[in-house]
Amino acid sequence: MTGSVTGSTTGAAAEPIGGRPIRVALLGCGTVGTQIVRLLTEQADELAARIGTPVELVGIAVRRADRHREVPAELLTTDAAALVARDDVDVVVEVVGGIEPTREWLLTALRAGKSVVTANKALLAEHAGDLFTAADASGADLYFEAAVAGAIPLLRPLRESLAGDRITRVMGIVNGTTNFILSAMDETGAGYAETLDEAARLGYAEADPTADVDGYDAAAKAAILASLSFHTRVTMGDVHREGISAVTPADVAAARGLGRTIKLLAICERVEAADGTASVAVRVHPAMIPRSHPLAGVGGAFNAVFVEAEAAGQLMFYGQGAGGAPTASAVLGDLVAVARNRVVGGRGPRESAYADLAVRPIAQASTRYHISLDVADRAGVLAAVAAVFAEHEVSISAVRQEGRTSDASLVIVTHSAEDAALRSTVDKIAGLPFVNRVVSVMRVEGEDQ
Ligand code: NDP
Ligand code: HSE
Repeated sequence: MTGSVTGSTTGAAAEPIGGRPIRVALLGCGTVGTQIVRLLTEQADELAARIGTPVELVGIAVRRADRHREVPAELLTTDAAALVARDDVDVVVEVVGGIEPTREWLLTALRAGKSVVTANKALLAEHAGDLFTAADASGADLYFEAAVAGAIPLLRPLRESLAGDRITRVMGIVNGTTNFILSAMDETGAGYAETLDEAARLGYAEADPTADVDGYDAAAKAAILASLSFHTRVTMGDVHREGISAVTPADVAAARGLGRTIKLLAICERVEAADGTASVAVRVHPAMIPRSHPLAGVGGAFNAVFVEAEAAGQLMFYGQGAGGAPTASAVLGDLVAVARNRVVGGRGPRESAYADLAVRPIAQASTRYHISLDVADRAGVLAAVAAVFAEHEVSISAVRQEGRTSDASLVIVTHSAEDAALRSTVDKIAGLPFVNRVVSVMRVEGEDQ
């Protein structure tokens, strides 16, 4: 996180375009880009009516022009930098992905006063500050609704509708691939690897699913959500991240046995200390939640996000978080917004990072925990394990023991405890002579402390 406060040195908004069409350069024509072209074509008249002037697609940058027979050949180019630099471009829509050279293209566009619409969460989670600085200097717009939770209108409510409130917590399922995998494991009892194969077969998981299953995609989205919610620049490095590859069928069954299910959650919190000092905590990890919790019913590749604000109370956003057409819907919504701004010569919201809150380390995060141990089944074991919890001031909420022949499965659920205290507790328990194995340690969310 950087310490600068932005929004003070701002350029004037771009001049009204005065009746001519809005000229758009599209960077990328893959899963999302193809759907953007389709919607721009099919809805041309309606978009023109809503904006007040037609939208004209002046060029489409791709990597392999020979593979794009679905779009007019004369629009295609493999030179994205040259397309961005053209004088006849008002708005750049970027659906290529990745950090470089995309960052350079978008900075060039913004510095030249061209508004930018992007779905690129990886770029925004690292470089939103640079992009907003460039936008502010030239008076251009930077919109990115599609970067988090696909079709679901979420960033606009955070940036605009809730701008008069104080957001205290954002918690949700923001990665469709991992939600599909965890839902399938819960429904069928299947293992992680075979469910990942199924996700790939159905087209949810990418050829390299690392960004999804290791939590990078959700962490990027969490950084964007936290930045907007708490008026603070939060980047990928500020987000504690754990993926789902270590979740076992035994964890899923244990959760089920206790009336819970496992979800990969992104959690962004505003934490207020006793002296009134505020900070933010941002984390992505698998967690058990009660089956009665509204997020527990979010199945397949869907996304859902809970927002809590002081005056508004709890709000829930739900819908398709990925896919070509749903994501293109969010991109087109942004395109209409920036085009309308260009028509009247106005500007949308700038970056709001004035609060500049400190980011808390994960060691200070407090949650409940579910700990599963494989122990020897003899007198005094439970008391000795409980003593270690007491020694670290971690309060136990529930215990369940199932004896087998010579050993036993011991499941302990704690009250809310700091991550650091819990880790020390588990480390000490792992070294006890009668503890055969720490089977799993998982956070529990969505329940009273
Ligand atoms: P794809 O891989 O399907 O498409 C990427 C496009 O970028 C392709 O058309 C490719 O060209 C083009 N491209 C790649 N490198 C270059 C380059 N150097 N110069 C010009 N063009 C290039 O990606 P998606 O459509 O799935 O995703 C695009 C963006 O949208 C990403 O930021 C992603 O995170 C985001 N997003 C995607 C969602 C989804 O469900 N797919 C959901 C939400 C956000 P070619 O076709 O010739 O290879
Ligand atoms: N790979 C992402 C997901 C795409 O599975 O949610 C949407 O950002």
